[in-house]
Amino acid sequence: RTTFKWLRRLTYLSVLVVIGGIVYDGYIDRHPDEQFEPDPKKKTLVVLGTGWGSVALLKKLDTSNYNVIVISPRNYFLFTPLLPSCTTGNIEHRSIMEPVRQILRHKKASVKFYEAEATKIDAENKVITITDNSEVQGATATTQVPYDMLVIGVGAENATFGIPGVREHSCFLKEIPDAQAIRTKIMDCVESAAFKDQPEDEVSRLLHMVVVGGGPTGVEFAGELRDFFDEDISKLIPEIAPKFKVTLIEALPNVLPMFSKQLIDYTEKTFKEEQIEIKTKAMVKKVTDKTVEAEVTGPDGKKEIITIPYGLLVWATGNAVRPVIKDLLSQIPAQKDSRRGLAVNEYLVVQGTRDIWAVGDCAVAGYAPTAQVASQEGGFLARLFNNMAKTEELETQIRELSTGLNLKPGNAAEVATQIESAERQLRRIKDVKPFHYSHQGSLAYIGSERAVADVSWFNGNVASGGKLTYLFWRSAYLSMCFSTRNRVLVALDWVKGKVYGRDVSRL
Ligand code: FAD
Ligand code: NAI
Repeated sequence: RTTFKWLRRLTYLSVLVVIGGIVYDGYIDRHPDEQFEPDPKKKTLVVLGTGWGSVALLKKLDTSNYNVIVISPRNYFLFTPLLPSCTTGNIEHRSIMEPVRQILRHKKASVKFYEAEATKIDAENKVITITDNSEVQGATATTQVPYDMLVIGVGAENATFGIPGVREHSCFLKEIPDAQAIRTKIMDCVESAAFKDQPEDEVSRLLHMVVVGGGPTGVEFAGELRDFFDEDISKLIPEIAPKFKVTLIEALPNVLPMFSKQLIDYTEKTFKEEQIEIKTKAMVKKVTDKTVEAEVTGPDGKKEIITIPYGLLVWATGNAVRPVIKDLLSQIPAQKDSRRGLAVNEYLVVQGTRDIWAVGDCAVAGYAPTAQVASQEGGFLARLFNNMAKTEELETQIRELSTGLNLKPGNAAEVATQIESAERQLRRIKDVKPFHYSHQGSLAYIGSERAVADVSWFNGNVASGGKLTYLFWRSAYLSMCFSTRNRVLVALDWVKGKVYGRDVSRL
């Protein structure tokens, strides 16, 4: 009985500590320390983008060492791993957004932010042309920003491989507006299918949700969509339930190629149970407003073209290089063979340039285009730049002390000790190791409260799939959210969804 009493007290205490932590965090968030302006004589460091790579850099960078300018058309950081959940309202989009102004306001020295797209990088003259492409523009919508050092973290755009009709008729899943458009379109298809006197074949078409691309984006979206239908839509509009169908089209022989064979099989088996049809060895060649045409390779190697009617089409076939990067590639002779982005060296310097670094999906460093890689690269650059600034400071200090040594011979011993100490520090920090990526594993949600995980564990690899892995997936992503505010909002969204279900209103 006494043990029980103590356990209860301990639980109350833990809850109080958690609530206290959240309130304290909120207070700190809203009452940042005073910021100071960096010395205008210091170098100008321009950072393009507010995604995984750039924000990881900004988080760890000592901004008092440079005049930092951030340029991005998006004034927030987006936690992309939970974006597929926004397409069904399982998570509200603002829960996974963190305003960049909030991030920058908490830096020691102030940072300038311009909401704009970099449209041209002039590597020769060290100038960037930026354009405000938002709906509201002032008298100046295009201007130029000079830099001493430049970090490019502009990510990638959606690959369409020039397939006709893709841009016009399909939804992508990369940004918040994409997720919102999908959420609206799902309900639009459902309500149109439930419309009075809708012909049978039209009901089937409208309720056929087609996903192209069996990478993690396509798989996670298909899983979320099926959950939405089974847990909410079918309960509210049961008459359409038999016609609802999800098809995943993949050009390769299997989905999730980056996962181990065992997890690929598990995913395919789970999809079968969830009634998500997987069409592998099917390459989409053409898209119209109501159909998808795919070339399917049969077991005998014969190819045939099939036409699939759809209501919603989500295109998730990976990344393509952004126009501003293509333009930069064309300016650098050393990059003439680069097709997938800016080739960088082991310190993430863009090959063939001076003072330009690249991180994340726009950089080719020999790793997969993932958030994990981008954030480790950003963190590496922050350490590198902090080091470079410290090196410069120590070198100046040594120079000044050496001059002092000549002027005041009486202090020689003391000054010599100071020089020695500065030189020791310099030797230690000058020895910066090249970037090394440490893979923590891959995780993906596959629907029905199941997930798959290939996780690195003590130099080995653990592959697991199922409901427990789903709990691991949830806790891992909750802990990785950018801020406590994000974590609280995501957790509340999950509770809200469990208690009240997803909101089926169409905006
Ligand atoms: P991004 O995060 O895409 O950021 C690019 C930034 O550059 C944005 O702020 C953008 O607005 C800005 N920008 C674009 N053009 C310009 C321009 N011309 N000038 C200036 N700024 C510009 N990876 C994982 O490791 N785990 C996951 O679970 C995972 N889930 C994902 C789920 C989805 C739905 C998607 C789409 C991707 C997922 N990824 C995941 C991949 C991961 O999101 C990317 O690899 C990561 O975002 C790359 O980071 P980045 O900084 O290079 O680019
Ligand atoms: P992807 O590049 O991983 O997969 C795209 C798939 O589309 C490929 O399997 C390709 O064969 C297929 N495809 C291409 N053209 C096709 C066509 N015409 N017809 C049919 N299929 C076609 O792209 P995805 O899923 O968008 O991921 C991009 C990056 O983001 C990857 O590096 C991925 O690892 C990462 N990511 C990671 C997640 C996670 O870890 N949970 C979640 C989402 C993305």
